[in-house]
Amino acid sequence: MRQFYLYTLYTRFSGFVFYLCVTALLFCNQKQISASIVLPLRAQKGMVVSAHPLASDAGLQMLRKGGNAIDAAVATAFVISVVEPFSAGIGGGGFLLLRDSKTGEIRALDFRERAPLKATRNMYLDAKGKVRANASVNGYLAVATPGTVAGLYEVHRRYGKLPWRELLKPAIALAKDGFILSSHVTWRSIPEYENRKNVILNNPAARAIFTRQGDLYQPGEKLVQRDLARSLTEISRNPRSFYTGNIARAIAADMSKNGGLITLADLKLYKPIWRNPVCGNFRHAKVCSMPPPSSGGVHLLEMLNIIGTTNLKSLGWRHPDAIHLMVEAMKIAYADRSKFLGDPDFVKVPVQQLIDPAYARLRRAEIKMSRARAASEVKPADIKMLQRFSKTKGRWGENFTSSADLSVILNTPRHESTETSHLNVVDAQRNAVSLTFTINTGFGAGIVADGTGIVLNNEMDDFAVAPGVPNAFGLVGNEANAIAPRKTPLSSMTPTIVTENNRLRLLVGAPGGATIITQVLQVILNVLEYNMDVGAAVSVPRFHHQWLPDELRLEPFVFDALTVVELQRRGHKFKQETTPWGNVNAIALTPEGTLEGAADPRGEGSPRGF
Ligand code: DON
Repeated sequence: MRQFYLYTLYTRFSGFVFYLCVTALLFCNQKQISASIVLPLRAQKGMVVSAHPLASDAGLQMLRKGGNAIDAAVATAFVISVVEPFSAGIGGGGFLLLRDSKTGEIRALDFRERAPLKATRNMYLDAKGKVRANASVNGYLAVATPGTVAGLYEVHRRYGKLPWRELLKPAIALAKDGFILSSHVTWRSIPEYENRKNVILNNPAARAIFTRQGDLYQPGEKLVQRDLARSLTEISRNPRSFYTGNIARAIAADMSKNGGLITLADLKLYKPIWRNPVCGNFRHAKVCSMPPPSSGGVHLLEMLNIIGTTNLKSLGWRHPDAIHLMVEAMKIAYADRSKFLGDPDFVKVPVQQLIDPAYARLRRAEIKMSRARAASEVKPADIKMLQRFSKTKGRWGENFTSSADLSVILNTPRHESTETSHLNVVDAQRNAVSLTFTINTGFGAGIVADGTGIVLNNEMDDFAVAPGVPNAFGLVGNEANAIAPRKTPLSSMTPTIVTENNRLRLLVGAPGGATIITQVLQVILNVLEYNMDVGAAVSVPRFHHQWLPDELRLEPFVFDALTVVELQRRGHKFKQETTPWGNVNAIALTPEGTLEGAADPRGEGSPRGF
């Protein structure tokens, strides 16, 4: 109630003085809310918001030099590769959505990692068919062919204005001269460091870069990455060097020496893929997001469609009916994800059916407002149901035939990391880029390819290593997401661009594994439905349900006591988290065309504008 009261007052009297009072109250009463509410930065010409201030600075520098949103996004992403080496970088992959201001067209680029040619469907099972715990998470076998350099080069080649070399200068300087690790970033990554420490210590190249004789660098210390600086310099001269030159040879040699699967042939074959974004209408807005091989866009739209025309705002902020509807929508979407989503170049994914508002109405009718359904009652759509929304007869989501013994992996404790990195850029012409990239869990596979300084991903874990086996984020999958050579593992990354009447309205995205899609959903609703400014929208506590495990995860202090009692009465099973998750950031455009940017107070990100 208290949060509701404060928020209502805030929206009525949004003057600066009142805002400061509310913020001060929230700060004084830390028990009420887990994170402070940030003020958005406002600017007219251009804006960059990313997960690290040094990266946002680099993007802004490019805009000021006359570069466009694409130039700024590329420079920002390269700096993230240096200052968040545990999170995202050139040893991984990602997705971007861009809006071309000349045509108003929104395009999606898939530069995610692909499974090596030598990958096989049962590569993580032992001779007895038992899942080898952590084989898809740690070490050489966990690595998929990286796509970040090819993706950033491709988008720059098509749309960039500034010379490619110029874009890499800030990243090269920061790798060579070093940067100071902040307490914030280290705080955020402490569980990661601790979880990944042994893996890092096992790999001599990673150990040499990220530890001082085995002790991880601490806040206030400088991290210098000379090998990475050399690799980036080489990429600035010739981006193909990652795929056919010295860097490719170093990666392939390291792989072959240590039992990894990636070869020169994998690297040479790598290509980013332009895809059509998935788009749908919500209220007055058109929401466009990443299509498969991400599950993000499809399920974001599915959940928005299920919420449909229900006027959440009229119920009041955090009304139990609104929360209940959102949670039940989440369960349905993640159930569908487990069955149908995978790489569209390998399996037929019923995208249009799943994002059809008529399909959502059918699923909405299953939801009882008085009672939360157990996950076992919520089923993925059956094929007949989807065929009602299809002109062609699809054969989607056939069963995964494997005799894997799940006992090992199901008994392995899972942990959530907060890695991966999102950035948004808008320029003066209103070109826009929303980009999420990752090396998957903290420090990826825990491997630095010898001599390159490049931390390699563990994206193979995003495949379903066997049917029903949860990955690092507890997500389960099926045939559609089974491993195959050159296939792309299913992702949840959800870079999103929202327009209204063909004008930019909102850019948003997040890290956080399975929680990415529900973070983005909540920020969109906070802005479009609850009329929050983007600072409040990225700040307020969040909740998450992913069907399996059957638990409603809550950030600290997300609901007041009465709401908790009412949701429990309806049968929701809470998992109260002690730390917040995610690290969303967003740029909104006001009706007057002002840019408003904000980065999540849970992270150390920062907007920059001019
Ligand atoms: O693509 C995905 O969905 C995951 N590899 C993202 C990983 C992630 O967000 C890590 N942070 N929690």
